[in-house]
Amino acid sequence: MRELGYYHLYPHRSNEPAIALAEKLIEIAPVPMARVLFQCSGSEANDTAIKLAWYYWDAVGQPQRTKIIARQMAYHGNTCAAVSLSGKPDMHGGFGLPFARFKHTEFPHYYRRHEPGETEEQFSARMAEALETLIQTEGPDTIAAFFAEPVMGAGGAIVPPRFYFDKVQAVLRKYAILFVADEVICGFARTGEMWGCQTYGIRPDMVTSAKALSAAMQPISAVLISDRIHEAMLAQSDKRGNFAHGFTYAGHPVAAAVALEVQRIYAEIDIVTRAKRLGPMLQSALGRLKTHPLVGDVQGVGLILGMELMRDGEKRIPFDSALEVGARVDAAARRHGLILRVVGDRLVFAPPFVIEASEIEEIGQRLYRALDNVAYDLKSEGALG
Ligand SMILES: Cc1ncc(COP(=O)(O)O)c(C=O)c1O
Repeated sequence: MRELGYYHLYPHRSNEPAIALAEKLIEIAPVPMARVLFQCSGSEANDTAIKLAWYYWDAVGQPQRTKIIARQMAYHGNTCAAVSLSGKPDMHGGFGLPFARFKHTEFPHYYRRHEPGETEEQFSARMAEALETLIQTEGPDTIAAFFAEPVMGAGGAIVPPRFYFDKVQAVLRKYAILFVADEVICGFARTGEMWGCQTYGIRPDMVTSAKALSAAMQPISAVLISDRIHEAMLAQSDKRGNFAHGFTYAGHPVAAAVALEVQRIYAEIDIVTRAKRLGPMLQSALGRLKTHPLVGDVQGVGLILGMELMRDGEKRIPFDSALEVGARVDAAARRHGLILRVVGDRLVFAPPFVIEASEIEEIGQRLYRALDNVAYDLKSEGALG
């Protein structure tokens, strides 16, 4: 801040911390990437990627490709376009959203949505078929891009079933649709690799990133773009002039300097190895709770995990939503000194990377006590067998 309190990144201008951070991101990107554009939030990163997808197709002579596909229950942010991308009806109602160009396909919640006897692979094939049907209904040559989080975070930490992204990418490749990976939650070791794309073999055309980019210490986000996008942008700017997009505080030198230092610390403590060591501990400490009568399913990867509360886990019978079981577990956990993230009757865990093994055990124990308290109450009310 003392060296350079502010300088902007509008066309033909930059600042040293932003340049160094862009170089760092290109160096660690999950697939070869050409350039980085900065913004201040995950929502703005996704808005930028949406505009880039439109700009790209206009540049390569297919301006009719304007529709964007994302998934029901996805969360990509809250600006008008990013929330249109999101598949959460509670965030659309009352706002006249989503915008018409945004379409939503099925989301891969295997535990809740698989048919009896359907394997993960068969379920993934059904998800990919649903995507292809949507593409054909809308017209393949009208689709610009598909957006997905490797693990759906705010939707409930929903881990993709086996082969899901292989099958989805095969469909996208068939119709030359761009893949934008929203790594706002998964980026920087959350799934046990540096990027969720690496965990799931995703080869994106663009990556959006925020949150752990600066360990959330400063508001900064980034879009990484591939050569394919960059080349088209260069050709298009010869025709149209500068890429007419930017934000005053994007790539702010102070935020970029902090993010750079965060990246240096990640390298120093070897964050990926740390996540690989702690991830299995979290999965096993909370995975053990699957035997608890309130818990239907526990699924996670690395340091992210979702736990589904069910009246009958085996038969997949949910609780009556009026019982507000998730909220009750939340309240009980608080009494035991544990703060939870609750999405309906789903508990979501994504502890900070500074967590230690003993604290992971502690989470499991406190949660067990909270679940027991709620099970006792539900039994007394006759709501649990
Ligand atoms: C996957 C994902 N994308 C985008 C966003 C939006 O980021 P921001 O709140 O910084 O706008 C979020 C926020 O939680 C997110 O989880």
